[in-house]
Amino acid sequence: MDITIRKINIEDHYNIECMTKRAFWNLNMPGCDEHYLVHRIWNEPDYVSSISLLAETEEIIVGVILYTKCKVVTERGEFPVLTFGPLCVDPEYQNKGIGGKLLVESMELARQNNYKGILICGVPTYYPKFGFKTADTFGITMPDGSNFDAFMGYELQENALSENKGKFYEPESLDCDIHDEEYMRRLEEFDKNYPYMEKKVLPGQWR
Ligand SMILES: CC(C)(COP(=O)(O)OP(=O)(O)OC[C@H]1O[C@@H](n2cnc3c(N)ncnc32)[C@H](O)[C@@H]1OP(=O)(O)O)[C@@H](O)C(=O)NCCC(=O)NCCS
Repeated sequence: MDITIRKINIEDHYNIECMTKRAFWNLNMPGCDEHYLVHRIWNEPDYVSSISLLAETEEIIVGVILYTKCKVVTERGEFPVLTFGPLCVDPEYQNKGIGGKLLVESMELARQNNYKGILICGVPTYYPKFGFKTADTFGITMPDGSNFDAFMGYELQENALSENKGKFYEPESLDCDIHDEEYMRRLEEFDKNYPYMEKKVLPGQWR
């Protein structure tokens, strides 16, 4: 199977959102909201299109990684970092190295573009094999001072994170509060634009 990794055009947006829905549907909650997050990211001023990538085979989009600018607030001021999310691969194409390829190639692009470090909240069993370490390693916490296994970082430049200890902030516009009734109402409405999938309560859902 030939996989092409390339940058994203506006014409790809809807198909990326559909693929994201398939990748996350019923995974962490009944249904999902990640395709709604992706839809909002396109217009976000902090979205970094120059290093966000998709994977395709025979012109079918099978994976994506999207980057957003974030910051660590240190004692000296604000230190710019990146986060990504979602990173996802179409369920029919998972475990074929596509997620890894998207990650490695985009991280190299980020390094070449002089970004210093990446902080994410993601699957704690997946990212360490690509060199991610829990954020406490670098002395970086969430805004409320907490750390947890899913909160991880990667230094694109040597010691870039460990020399900028502080609190990590993401753009508020990307908040996904599934306990907020208004947010869920907007999500339901938004989801009507995408192929129907049945919501299921499944073991392992944590949101
Ligand atoms: C997580 C994900 C992006 C990985 O992409 P992928 O192309 O399937 O993975 P790769 O082929 O690059 O890597 C496969 C390896 O990762 C592991 N892996 C895949 N998905 C994993 C997951 N959710 N948790 C832990 N490990 C995972 C596989 O077991 C395999 O391990 P091995 O190399 O030791 O055999 C993809 O499975 C996905 O989209 N999952 C659903 C959405 C999601 O959870 N995204 C991440 C949010 S932080």
